[in-house]
Amino acid sequence: MSQVKLLTEIPGPKSRAIVAREKPYLAPGTQWVWQLAGIAMDHGKGALLTDADGNTYLDFLAGICVSSLGYGHPGYAQAIAEQVARLHIGSYATETRARLLEQVAALTPGDLKRIQLYSGGAEAVESALRLARSATGAFEVLSFWGGFHGKTAGVLNLMGSDFKQGLGPMLPGTFNAPYPDCYRCPFKTTLERCDLLCAEFVREKLRYETSGKLAAIIMEPIQGTAGNVIPPAPFVQAMRELAHEKGALFICDEMITGFGRTGKNFGSEHMGVVPDLMTVGKGFGAGFPVTGVIASDRIVNAEPWSKPSFSSSSYGGNPLAAAAAAASLRIMVEEKLVENSARIGALILARLTAMMEKHPTLGDVRGRGLLIGVDLVADRKTRAPLEKKRCERLYLECLRRGLLTMAYSPRLRINPPLCLDEAGAHEGCDIFDAALTAFEQGGN
Ligand SMILES: Cc1ncc(COP(=O)(O)O)c(C=O)c1O
Repeated sequence: MSQVKLLTEIPGPKSRAIVAREKPYLAPGTQWVWQLAGIAMDHGKGALLTDADGNTYLDFLAGICVSSLGYGHPGYAQAIAEQVARLHIGSYATETRARLLEQVAALTPGDLKRIQLYSGGAEAVESALRLARSATGAFEVLSFWGGFHGKTAGVLNLMGSDFKQGLGPMLPGTFNAPYPDCYRCPFKTTLERCDLLCAEFVREKLRYETSGKLAAIIMEPIQGTAGNVIPPAPFVQAMRELAHEKGALFICDEMITGFGRTGKNFGSEHMGVVPDLMTVGKGFGAGFPVTGVIASDRIVNAEPWSKPSFSSSSYGGNPLAAAAAAASLRIMVEEKLVENSARIGALILARLTAMMEKHPTLGDVRGRGLLIGVDLVADRKTRAPLEKKRCERLYLECLRRGLLTMAYSPRLRINPPLCLDEAGAHEGCDIFDAALTAFEQGGN
C-alpha cells in the first residue's frame, strides 16, 4: 500500500496561501529546497511529512540529516513535554543530563568520554578549535575542499567552497587542502594509480604554507554538504598520523555522520580511526538544537578552555536539550535505528545501482548506511555535472510524485530519517525511478 498520498496539485492552495503570508516578512536566504518546493508543512509521522493541504510525502532528506527519528515520535515528544513542564534552563547538574552523558559515553569510541554541550553546529566546531588551541598551544588549522563546518565567522574560513566569495576577509591561519573526492578527483587521477597523492600533497602544503604551528586537522569522515563523498580510509588514517606528527589534534566533524546516519555509530568507524576530538549535532538531538564537542580526559583539561565558564554557553546542555538528546539516543538504541540505517541504506544503494543501467543521468552512486550520494550527470563519459536548472526540473518531478529529495543539485544527497522502513525505501526508489524516466524523456 502506498504511503504517499497526493490530494491536490503541488503546491496546493493552502500551501500557497501560507507561503504568500510569510513572504513579505521572512528575510531571503532560507534553504533553497523549501523555497523551490513552495509547500507549507503541517505535520509528520515516521518518515512521512504532510503539507497544509493534506498531501503526504516520503522524506528522503530528514531536514538534511537532522530528523533521525523521523517525525511525531511519541516517546520523543513525551520526554520533551515532561521536561519543559518540570525544568528547562540552566547549566546546573540534573539527572536528565547525567543520563545523557552516560548514554553518549556508552556509544563513543576509545577514550572519547567527555562532552561539552552546545546548541549550534558551528558553535561546537568553534569550541573544538579553541580546545585544540588550548591543548596544543598552536593556532593553525587545516581543513578540506568541499568541507562544511557551519557559517559563523570563526568557521567560515574552514569551508572548502565558493560560498566564501564576497564574505571576506577570512580568519588567518587556515589552510584548505583537496579532499579525496575520487569520482571527481582534484588531481585528475584514479585511486588505482594515485598512490594517495592527495595525502602527500597535504604534507607538502603544511611544510610550505604554515608557520609550523598547527593546532588541528579537521575533516568530515564522509563529506556531507559536498555530496555524501566517501574518502578512501587510508587517506583519513594518514591525516590522523600527519596531525600527530605535527603535534596537532585530529578532529572529525561528525555533525552529519554521527549517531547512526552511516549505519555505524560514527562515520570515523568506517575509516578505522578514532579522532582526538569529535563534534556532533544534527541527529544527536533528533531535531532539538543540541550539539557537542567530545574528547578524552587528557584533552578536555587543557587551559584556558577548561577554566570555569570558559567553554560554556547560555543554552548548552540545559535540561530541555538534555532530555531531547537523551530521548533521541535511547530511542535510537531501543529501536535499533543504527542497524536499520545500515540495512535500509544498503537496500536503497542496491536499487540505485540497478537503476544506473537504464538512467544515463546517474553518473555515480555511493553510500554508507542512510547517507547516500548520487552524481547527476549530463554525460556519463565526461562526468559533466547536470546543470542546476535541469536538476531543479528533476527535483520537481520527484516532488510532484510525493518524494522530497535534494535533487535540486547535481550532487544529490539521499539521507532519509533513520526509521525509514523497507516499504518506504522501495516506494521512494520507485518514485525516483519514475521521476528520472519522465525527466529523461522530457529531453533532459
Ligand atoms: C559537518 C557539519 N558541521 C557543522 C555544521 C554546522 O551546523 P549548524 O548549521 O548547526 O551550525 C554542518 C551543517 O550542515 C555540518 O554539516
